[in-house]
Formats: sequence, structure tokens, C-alpha cells
Amino acid sequence: MGKIITVANEKGGVGKTILTVNLGAALSIRGQRVLVIDMDPQGNASYMLSKNISEENPSMYKVLVNKDEKISAIIEHTSTENLDLAPSNLHLAGAEIQLIQEYGREFALKRSFTPEIMEQYDYIFIDTAPSLSLLTVNSFVAADYVLIPVFSDFLSLVGLNLLFDTIKISQENLGSKVEVLGLVITKYDSRENISEEAINLLKINFGGLLYETMIRTNVRLKESPAKRQTIFQYDPVCVGARNYLALANEFLNKIR
Ligand SMILES: Nc1ncnc2c1ncn2[C@@H]1O[C@H](COP(=O)(O)OP(=O)(O)O)[C@@H](O)[C@H]1O
Ligand SMILES: [Mg+2]
Repeated sequence: MGKIITVANEKGGVGKTILTVNLGAALSIRGQRVLVIDMDPQGNASYMLSKNISEENPSMYKVLVNKDEKISAIIEHTSTENLDLAPSNLHLAGAEIQLIQEYGREFALKRSFTPEIMEQYDYIFIDTAPSLSLLTVNSFVAADYVLIPVFSDFLSLVGLNLLFDTIKISQENLGSKVEVLGLVITKYDSRENISEEAINLLKINFGGLLYETMIRTNVRLKESPAKRQTIFQYDPVCVGARNYLALANEFLNKIR
């Protein structure tokens, strides 16, 4: 049975999409069958992974607003073996507005998973928008775990409580079984004193939830989205690629 992991942090630019795409790709290199679901109307994960991006292509919008439409109908293969994509584009913002008026609006994503899909993949990652919107709540309700990317600066630590509160609401009011799997430092610069201080603060507050593997600041990781490539396609020997493979190993050890 596949496990569903939502990657969330309501702050923009903390590495949600980079983490989703590259941890997913690293796991596929490790022989795991991985699906990435794009739940951000900005469609950044789709931009990086889709072979033929078009506003006309069927997307998560269709799946969320149409109760009979299942995720399997929109899945694409990417150019990485064992890594598939359920894409999105700006239409997804419309799904949010349409869903708000519906009964059971928090469960639209959950009900689109069929038993076949759960058998077809080992890990399903959901990339979310930088907001605690209805789409993100749908992603918490549907998931087994939440993985939280953070940059190692103080500002990106402010506001994490709001994220934990929203996860708690999903558990207590919406019956979700979602658990926090961990926090991952997605951009770490050893030359900055502030990083060490921020990491100590994270350790004090989150203890064992903090992943030991840290992704270093790496220019290749910064360049790769514009090239529409995973880090393993763009530069498989760079520090970023090595860090993401190490993260995949730690992830597999933690989740098994
Ligand atoms: N380790 C890193 N080193 C350098 N740049 C990074 C690193 N991780 C992420 N980035 C860059 O930071 C930006 C924001 O990352 P992104 O994954 O799009 O964040 P989010 O999805 O949370 O908005 C992107 O330009 C990405 O390339
Ligand atoms: Mg993103």
C-alpha cells in the first residue's frame, strides 16, 4: 500500500517544490514507485516534471471538482523512470472557489484515490501552495504524513505554530490520521552564523522530528527549476544531488 506524504509550509520559497520533486526523484532512483501530485495552482512542480505542459491538459482541477473523476485519469509519466505526475495549472485556483460551496469540501482529494492507485505507487507526494487554503487542508486530510521544509534562517521559523495548528484541526475536526513525519532543512549555509542558531532552535523545539540530513545551499538546485529538470538530470554529481540521495535514505529508514 502506498503512503501519502503532503509537503507543506505556508511560507513561499522555503523549498516545498524542490523537495517534492527531488526527494521523489531520489526515491525513484532507489527503485521506489513515486507519484507527485501538484496541489499548487502555480503549477511549479508540473513545470519541472511535465513533458508537455498546456493549459488544455486535464489537471487536478478536473479531479477535484468532478466527483467521478479519479486521479488515474490525469497521470502522466515523466522523463524519470518510476516517477509520475498528476499535474496542475492556474485552473486549480477555480477549484478552490467551487469547492467552498460544497458539502464534504475537505474530502475532495481523499475520495479521488482509488485502491488501484494505492497499489500502483510506494510513495505519493503532494506539493502544496504557500497558504493554508482549502486545497492545503484537502492535502492534510488525504495524507498519512506531513513533511515540512524550512530554510535555516529565523524568519522561516516564525509561523510554524500556525501550520501545526492547522494540522491539528485536520486531525481533530476532520478525522484525519495525518502525522508530522519531520522537518527538513532545505537550504543550509554553513558560512552563516545565523544558520547554526536557527538549527539549535529547531532542535530544541522539534527534537527528533528534525531530519539529520540537511540540504546545502547549492547553485545547481537554484538553476534546475528553470531547466525543467530534477537535480539528477541537471547535475547528478553536485552537492545538491548527493544531499537529496542522503535524504531519501533517511526518509526510507524513518518511514519503514
Ligand atoms: N538548497 C538550495 N540551494 C539554492 N537554492 C535553493 C535550494 N533549495 C531551494 N532553492 C531555491 O529556492 C527557491 C524556492 O524554492 P521552491 O521549492 O520553489 O519553494 P516553495 O515551493 O516552497 O515556494 C527556488 O528558486 C529554488 O530553486
Ligand atoms: Mg512551490
